[in-house]
Amino acid sequence: MARVFVTRELPGPALARLREAHDTTVWPDPLPPGRAALLEHAAPADALLTLLTDRIDAELIAAAPRLKVIANYAVGYDNIDVDAATARGIGVGNTPDALTEATADLTFALLMAAARRITEAAAFARSGQWQTWEPAGFLGADVYGATLGIIGLGRIGQAVARRAAGFGMEVLTTETRDQHNLEHLLRRSDYVSIHLPLTAGTRNLIGTDAFALMKPTAILINTARGAIVDREALAQALHTGQIAGAALDVTSPEPLPPDDPLWQAPNLLVVPHIGSATWSARERMTEIAVENILAGLEGRPLPHQVPSQVTD
Ligand code: DGY
Repeated sequence: MARVFVTRELPGPALARLREAHDTTVWPDPLPPGRAALLEHAAPADALLTLLTDRIDAELIAAAPRLKVIANYAVGYDNIDVDAATARGIGVGNTPDALTEATADLTFALLMAAARRITEAAAFARSGQWQTWEPAGFLGADVYGATLGIIGLGRIGQAVARRAAGFGMEVLTTETRDQHNLEHLLRRSDYVSIHLPLTAGTRNLIGTDAFALMKPTAILINTARGAIVDREALAQALHTGQIAGAALDVTSPEPLPPDDPLWQAPNLLVVPHIGSATWSARERMTEIAVENILAGLEGRPLPHQVPSQVTD
């Protein structure tokens, strides 16, 4: 039996399969293990099932001499030093597909909530201030027929584009960091939605220069990774009216500290990284992560190896 450390309880029945097959320890707290606990539990482990909140860096990998597989419970894997793992022959897996549609749904929910001021209007109705039907109450922006710029046309970006077709939207896309195309998209879009992985090349991609190109009526949606947006530049863009609003599922850091100046920015909607938070997506993510661990421990190829480890 191999030793497996799982850094949080996970939804769905699949963890039971791991417990049956291997000596599995699951971190019992709702908050992630701190650094010392993570190092301590990783040290004897043959496999780690990790979350995006766990930093699996070269130091941790070096401190875990038996490690054969790391299965991340996310499609993103910027929390893992994949190069350090690869150098040791450790397989790294992720959970693509399972969360594509859930994340695309949330992208649209955020887009529509920001466009139609849903959270503001709901708080107003509940507060007892609602006195009558107002001709100019809570006016927002049109979604139907508007232009949506999708930065990153992977699985989730494509799923967002499919939804946009139902809203009669013109969709502009940019695949990679194609500067010319990106600038065109930023200038023309009523909504700009980010669907890129966080890499050295995408960190702070949306900063002062990008906001300067966007329409004053534009709304930014980010369901990818917080660090792709420069949060000081975003706060500035919202305060000065350079853009009309932002709806974020992700921030950097997470959670955004209560005293972070971004909280003071107007027309900002933040939810706590819930893109994949549907029962079926999260249960399927558990299954995929467990399948990755079982395969890695049996010496089989991981069913979902991270793209940067796939060589053929
Ligand atoms: C991911 O999978 O990368 C999401 O951010 C969390 O599900």
